[in-house]
Amino acid sequence: MKIINVKASKNYQITVDSGFESFKTQILPLIKGDKVAVITDDTVDSLYFNAVESLLSGKTVYKFVLPHGEENKNAENYIKLVNDLAKAGLSRKSTVIGLGGGVVGDMSAFVASTYMRGVSYIAIPTTLLSMVDSSVGGKTGIDLDAGKNLLGTFFQPDAVYVNTDCLKTLPKREITSGLGEIMKYAFIDGRIAPSDLVNVCYEDLIVKSLQIKRDIVERDERESGERMLLNFGHTIGHALEKLYDYKLSHGECVLKGMAYALEISTKLGNLSKQDKNLGLKFIESSGVSFDKDFTAEQILSVVKSDKKADGDTVNFVLTSGFGKGVIKKIKIDSLAECL
Ligand SMILES: NC(=O)c1ccc[n+]([C@@H]2O[C@H](COP(=O)([O-])OP(=O)(O)OC[C@H]3O[C@@H](n4cnc5c(N)ncnc54)[C@H](O)[C@@H]3O)[C@@H](O)[C@H]2O)c1
Repeated sequence: MKIINVKASKNYQITVDSGFESFKTQILPLIKGDKVAVITDDTVDSLYFNAVESLLSGKTVYKFVLPHGEENKNAENYIKLVNDLAKAGLSRKSTVIGLGGGVVGDMSAFVASTYMRGVSYIAIPTTLLSMVDSSVGGKTGIDLDAGKNLLGTFFQPDAVYVNTDCLKTLPKREITSGLGEIMKYAFIDGRIAPSDLVNVCYEDLIVKSLQIKRDIVERDERESGERMLLNFGHTIGHALEKLYDYKLSHGECVLKGMAYALEISTKLGNLSKQDKNLGLKFIESSGVSFDKDFTAEQILSVVKSDKKADGDTVNFVLTSGFGKGVIKKIKIDSLAECL
């Protein structure tokens, strides 16, 4: 078992273990009230709900199940969830547990941050992507028709419990998706080396990723500067998610977005061609295709509507080599020639 301490607006611990054994000592004492709401999706429900429920001895457990998939991270399901919590009599002293991937995590943390102006929240991420990224850092939210993650809060959890055994049931495509976020860390912070991406040890990569994210979030919780580094590959990645109508996963689009970001880093930054090609080789090894299904105009029109855009400029994350992320204000139109 490994413990990572986070010192943000709320201090909390991330436990990384290969089983649920340490849940009783690490998490149970943090649950003060009697009532616990476990929010999950239909896939994770059938795999892990019973195991988690059996760990919550002495508590009254209420289960709320979303259909799986990004399209369900929406306002309608959010309103239904908070109404269902109220109908079940969950009070300010209750705890919400988010059991699932990033979709369940973003939604359940948003519910916890707003229900009765905020209740305790514990994250149990079950995808690689949510283990290394979305469960930590306090960004919560849902998608609106106008775009992804447009309604949300900053709200730190009381604890995060990562059971790496959950990866055993994760489809290959979702592993690829999580690897995208891990590669993102490798491009911006030297603690994940290219060699770590060749001989993959998931537990090691999860701990290193969490340490990198923890350090950045501690220095810039509200994303006024350095935290933007975590958006490497995401500006174009988010645009692609929308253009593919969410048929490709977040991580797959981030991988494609990183390939574009490498190209842009050689044209508008200091990335050498050699390092760009090495980076592209890693991205390609994940199995995503580099097919350019959309024109530069299509991509940039979505980038312009992104919440990170500021008029005709955007804070774009470039890399000047593995471990060397740089934030640069770039005119959106000047990206056209790089795409
Ligand atoms: N808050 C943040 O900081 C942050 C950061 C990155 C991404 N995100 C968000 O995360 C979301 C993507 O998360 P995701 O990639 O985890 O997708 P997801 O939550 O949709 O999970 C992917 C699929 O895997 C299934 N699944 C989950 N755990 C499983 C397991 N152990 N075994 C088998 N199947 C399992 C789910 O049911 C789902 O069908 C996006 O909405 C993205 O915007 C948020």
